[in-house]
Amino acid sequence: MYKKLFYFRLVYIYLKSKMAVKKILLYPNPLLLRASARIDAFDENIANLSSDLIDTMYDADGVGLAAPQIGINKRIFVMDCSREDEKKDCRIVINPQIEHVSEEFSSYKEGCLSIPGITEEISRPKVVKVVYQDLNGVLQRNTYDDLWSTCFQHELDHLNGKLFIDHLRPMKKILVKNKMKKSSKKEKKV
Ligand code: CO
Repeated sequence: MYKKLFYFRLVYIYLKSKMAVKKILLYPNPLLLRASARIDAFDENIANLSSDLIDTMYDADGVGLAAPQIGINKRIFVMDCSREDEKKDCRIVINPQIEHVSEEFSSYKEGCLSIPGITEEISRPKVVKVVYQDLNGVLQRNTYDDLWSTCFQHELDHLNGKLFIDHLRPMKKILVKNKMKKSSKKEKKV
């Protein structure tokens, strides 16, 4: 019985060591507020960065994660907005641009792994037509709707040093910022 547990523990430690779960930076870390640089070299570094982002996103139960959130100011993010009853569907998005937005807006209660404990209703275009590069540098065109669209826009904002709370009305933003300061003080005490 104990031997079995020991074995499972070893397998667990081995699998964890294969994964590269990075530390997620929290607001107001300055790296989150900076515009990220375009990626021109589609090499092993970018492949490694993308797998770090994927491991870190799934480990944190997120639907999207952008490179600045793990301290790297490069224009890459990953997202997987598939439902729990669907297969995993992770997209790696490099140098993204929005080519067209719908007139119709939709609203989601958004959260962010860099702003834990805060969710706010944010309104954004419901459908976006986008262009980006994949890991090989090949251009990809896609149309995203609903949660996928919201997530794409949220992650693209990260690459421009913008956070979802920047979409709030000024008064509301001040309230949220104060709440963040209080909770970070609490965290430091523990
Ligand atoms: Co975020």
